[in-house]
Amino acid sequence: MSKDRETSADIDLFSPITLGGLALPNRVIMAPLTRNRAAMPGNIPQAMNARYYAQRAGAGLIISEATQVAAQGIGYPATPGIHSREQVQGWRAVTDAVHEKGGHIFVQLWYCGRISHPDLLPDHQQPVSASAITPAGEAVTMEGMKPFVEPRALATDELPGIVDLYRQAAACARDAGFDGVEIHAANGYLLDQFLRDGSNRRDDNYGGSLENRSRLLLEVLDAVLESWEPGRVGVRISPENSFNDMHDSDPQTTFNYVAKALSGRGLGYLHVLEGDMMSGKTGIDYQPIRAAFDGYYMANNAYDKARAQAAITGGAADMVAFGKPFLANPDLVERLKQDAELNKPNEATFYGGDETGYTDYPTLGK
Ligand code: PHB
Repeated sequence: MSKDRETSADIDLFSPITLGGLALPNRVIMAPLTRNRAAMPGNIPQAMNARYYAQRAGAGLIISEATQVAAQGIGYPATPGIHSREQVQGWRAVTDAVHEKGGHIFVQLWYCGRISHPDLLPDHQQPVSASAITPAGEAVTMEGMKPFVEPRALATDELPGIVDLYRQAAACARDAGFDGVEIHAANGYLLDQFLRDGSNRRDDNYGGSLENRSRLLLEVLDAVLESWEPGRVGVRISPENSFNDMHDSDPQTTFNYVAKALSGRGLGYLHVLEGDMMSGKTGIDYQPIRAAFDGYYMANNAYDKARAQAAITGGAADMVAFGKPFLANPDLVERLKQDAELNKPNEATFYGGDETGYTDYPTLGK
């Protein structure tokens, strides 16, 4: 193990931790949360987005909502991008607002691939993926839900172009004032479509073996590392998540391999959605994945305070990311510290809309 994990008897959820030279005040991380509230047209972060994130600056670290690296990477209406000048300016206002409150924020870099629809894409393009396998389910379009269409399998010689989009977005993330980046390789989006064998039937150097299925992720990582020091880079995976019609025939072996392949570079953290996002069910062991990776391990998926404390004090995780609790509780860290009651998240206002259910969740005593 090349890196000290800073785990000892007196470390808990509220202990500081140093990530890529950043002094994080605690280990309560805000998970990436899609909220579909970027300004349209242009998918540009706007003033209410800055207010929302600044309200949550008490997190040890904020990970932004998934943010497309290019117009062709989009998969839902009104999700923000990080490829245009206007988006970089919009994000700059967000990062400034978070920094003014003493917070830290990484951007999550996203390319949706087959979880999209021609209605959302430039020139009505067909969505792309590792293989031409149509996911079960429906895309979210401006006209409501529409069945997913068959994606076009990316040609081998198109993959350097995909990597370039991440390279450019990672550079834009610096211009936008982020503290680091998280590569989204989870939840059935493009990089995950390459990693898991249920969606990857390729017979070139990007399919078949674990080495081949991990290749695009590792190439993306190298491109991101051209503009970021490794300690400021995290990667998110979701070995067992069936969301977006995903499956792998052997998630334990696949993701033990991926975790090991991501090591040796001094990366900041591996962010792991443990089990299934919907059912919470898990059938694999996450500790070998954790042990195979040489940076911090960030655990996620429906943790409450008790489970999070146990994970940190028992040494199973270095940080824990909270999604819905952070959505509904801007002062989540304070509430957890005090064992205060939590606001309940209102599902009706998760995706899209205005400040209602976004910036109006009360803090303690309000
Ligand atoms: C969603 O929009 O539902 C969504 C986006 C990104 C994720 C997971 C879910 O990683």
